[in-house]
Amino acid sequence: MNKIKTAVFPVAGLGTRFLPATKAAPKEMLPVVDKPLIQYAVEEAYAAGIRHMVFVTGRNKRAIEDHFDTAYELENELEQAGKQALLDIVRSVQPEDMLCSYVRQPRALGLGHAVMCAEHLTEAAPFAVLLADDLMMGPPGGQHVLAQMADVFHRLGRSVLAVQEVPHAQVRRYGIVAGSPAGDRLLQIERIVEKPSPEAAPSRLAVAGRYILTPAVFEQIRQQPRGAGGEIQLTDGIAGLLKHEAAYAYTYLGKRFDCGSKEGFLEATVELAMAHPEVGVSFREYLKSLKV
Ligand code: G1P
Repeated sequence: MNKIKTAVFPVAGLGTRFLPATKAAPKEMLPVVDKPLIQYAVEEAYAAGIRHMVFVTGRNKRAIEDHFDTAYELENELEQAGKQALLDIVRSVQPEDMLCSYVRQPRALGLGHAVMCAEHLTEAAPFAVLLADDLMMGPPGGQHVLAQMADVFHRLGRSVLAVQEVPHAQVRRYGIVAGSPAGDRLLQIERIVEKPSPEAAPSRLAVAGRYILTPAVFEQIRQQPRGAGGEIQLTDGIAGLLKHEAAYAYTYLGKRFDCGSKEGFLEATVELAMAHPEVGVSFREYLKSLKV
């Protein structure tokens, strides 16, 4: 069975919901406790066995490249000062066996277009797509969400999308899938639509920002017309794929924080801070002391 070697991170978005914080800094570099959002996603891909990380970037995204590069001066200073623990933290951002590639998305034409920009780096093999806005936490002590999906992919050899149920009123924010039961936590997808109205939605099962896709999706994206919001949608490419091969929706174990919204970002910050090995205990005490 094909191993998933490449992960694609579309990071060209403007992050307008976080202005002014994102005026000059990429939204993917906003930290949740002490790590930027993009690093959580990269670590999730690495934990799923992926070693080639492809970032689809845009203007103002240089900080992402710097983050995954060697910080020579900083490392030197820390080494001189004998600060080994900090040095280990800095070096752990880019493990030696991890390769990073960067490709520009010259215009914001949609998620499908962003993924297409990485086609030549995916070696015509199955690949993962991770949207860093969705910070995914596996179940306590369990596997990361992408690693769970990789297990499903290795069994079935077909595209796998992470899904979760959302309230009816929220379906218009997501790709929505419907299908027939195909095993534990699995549906074979029969329909997928991008951001339907609640009346038109085929279900309440929403796609979270994790995908494992077969390379046939590229041909579909190339052929399709513009979709919801006038954009080239990944969802439409997957809908096209269904005419040629099966694809599966996997209800993941764990939790998703929508860090593309202020509320989700704050929830992630509070929950990850409570679980943090360094500050968790004192932060919980602090929260208890608040009169809310
Ligand atoms: C994108 C996808 C959508 C998916 C969502 C998950 O939408 O187009 O299908 O459900 O991510 O976060 P966006 O959030 O970029 O509007």
